[in-house]
Amino acid sequence: MIMPASSGPQTVSPLRSVVIPVAGRGTRLLPATKAVRKELLPIGRKPLILYAVEEAATSGIDHIIFVCARSDSSLQRFFERDIQLEHFLDVHGVQGEAEKLRAMFSGLRFSFVNQSAPLGLADAIRCARPEIKDEAFGVILPDALIISQNPCIAQLAECYRRHRRPVIATRLVQMFETRRYGILVVDSERPEKDMRTVRVRSMVEKPSPQCAPSLYGVFGRYVLAPEVFDAIDNTQPDPSGELQLTDALNSYCNSNPVYGYLFEGRHIDTGNWHGFVEATIECLLADVELAPVLSRYMSPSSAPCNN
Ligand code: G1P
Repeated sequence: MIMPASSGPQTVSPLRSVVIPVAGRGTRLLPATKAVRKELLPIGRKPLILYAVEEAATSGIDHIIFVCARSDSSLQRFFERDIQLEHFLDVHGVQGEAEKLRAMFSGLRFSFVNQSAPLGLADAIRCARPEIKDEAFGVILPDALIISQNPCIAQLAECYRRHRRPVIATRLVQMFETRRYGILVVDSERPEKDMRTVRVRSMVEKPSPQCAPSLYGVFGRYVLAPEVFDAIDNTQPDPSGELQLTDALNSYCNSNPVYGYLFEGRHIDTGNWHGFVEATIECLLADVELAPVLSRYMSPSSAPCNN
């Protein structure tokens, strides 16, 4: 259930909009994703996309902009009201369920923009430009699930409030992981007392461990300023033809301050089966009603058995 912004941990957010790119094919989760978008696969009781939307809503952000593949409207249908279903639940007296569905997205506004071809993350963000107006906005990559009391995008928004400059969620990675992430080069001095903010000097997309300039990985949450759109327009596609957000931000930070924020929380990459299962277990263990079911399987002596 989406918590209304007022019950979230934050005061008024300096951000009104968040961009959530959902145009990927989910090939690492085949065959499950052959006919169902990966963002609609359940992690525990909820589809993956709801975790990203809840993160934004509890951070006080009320305009959610999805960047979708043109051919697919299933995500849009999930966020539309289903009057027939609500009527069915009302008539059949399924207690409270119709009410819960009606309240689920109240106070939130959803926009859906199309990305005509899979041309990379920076291109996806650029597709949202007409919806953004001239103000800072958040970006949440829904595959990167970040479990935290204080939502990760709210942590970045708070850092943005202090500096009024783009902020990138970062965390130290292991040497062998550099190929999976954008990697930041940061100043050794930290500009704030809490030591979580770092000044970014440059960045590179998924370097090999031999070429990685540091171990500060980029983790799927950003606060960006509208000027970043110009940097995207001036970015060249990578060898695979994709426009990388890391490349655009790298050129942007040559002449503009950009910050990294060492976020609190646990990151799980749900875009592959290992992470998907890990996230499922984590969410089930946090569910008071379902955790005992899982616990029975986790204790070998009491695992359910049919014979
Ligand atoms: C994207 C970004 C990368 C970032 C990663 C994890 O890559 O391009 O810089 O580290 O998300 O959030 P993707 O995993 O979509 O290929």
